[in-house]
Amino acid sequence: MIPATNPPADYRALVTRGYDACARAYHESRRAEAATEIRGLLDRLGDGDAVLDVGCGAGVPIAQSLAARHRLTGVDVSREMVHLARRHVPAGDFICADVMSVSLEPSSFDAIVAINSIFHIPREAQPSLFQRLHRWLRPGGYLLCTLSHESEPGYTEDDFHGVTMYWSNYGLGEYLGILADSGFEVLETSSTACGHDEAVQGTIEDHPVVLAQRRHLQDSSSFPRRACPVLDTRRESTPHWTWERNGCAHSSPSPAGYFKGLQRQRRG
Ligand SMILES: C[S@@+](CC[C@H](N)C(=O)[O-])C[C@H]1O[C@@H](n2cnc3c(N)ncnc32)[C@H](O)[C@@H]1O
Repeated sequence: MIPATNPPADYRALVTRGYDACARAYHESRRAEAATEIRGLLDRLGDGDAVLDVGCGAGVPIAQSLAARHRLTGVDVSREMVHLARRHVPAGDFICADVMSVSLEPSSFDAIVAINSIFHIPREAQPSLFQRLHRWLRPGGYLLCTLSHESEPGYTEDDFHGVTMYWSNYGLGEYLGILADSGFEVLETSSTACGHDEAVQGTIEDHPVVLAQRRHLQDSSSFPRRACPVLDTRRESTPHWTWERNGCAHSSPSPAGYFKGLQRQRRG
């Protein structure tokens, strides 16, 4: 892990070049079975709803699962990834663009998913990404995204499917605050293993999956109000973040809690 200390613009170019170079290798290692990451969202959508997949990659399995019942638009900064996605998901519309600069109609999507893509954007720019996603969703629309447990300023690694890759992320507690500030209500948090063949990637990473909803317009009087998550270690079996918003207590498992839950699941 090498700290990324040059200007962020360099790293955006590095991400694009990197995914252009490793698109096929990435696709081959991506688990192609049903997209477990998005199950919680699928239940809430109706046939024909408009869904945006941010950082859609090669389209399998996420965009492909969504396009089976929904109008799917994918956006990805890598030309090679978009080329593969168009081939794998003929029913989808794909745009090759940086999500930080692409222009999309306000309130035009019923849901947005961003699986394993937000952490490739310099974290200082991520609050404005959530504001963009909020603008593109209709009021009441859903955001489902993978985030990160730990706070990590930008860094690169040299061995990501044979290329140098860049990541940058806040920890889950900070993300919950950013989501609240951007006009989202968190509905569910869960956890996912990274979705790659272990033999290829060597280690299992797990990431928090957050399902949030764009607040309805009538709720906007309470916006913005920052959520202040506090780690509650009194629950010994599963430490939780707890926070208070709009007079209600909210709670979600802390990174350690997710990890314990995951271990329990694996032990069966
Ligand atoms: C780890 S892959 C995930 C692909 C897919 N979501 C999946 O679950 O397999 C990350 C994807 O995000 C894309 N990406 C990274 N930064 C982006 C940006 N600023 N705008 C659009 N796409 C981006 C990459 O090109 C890559 O295809």
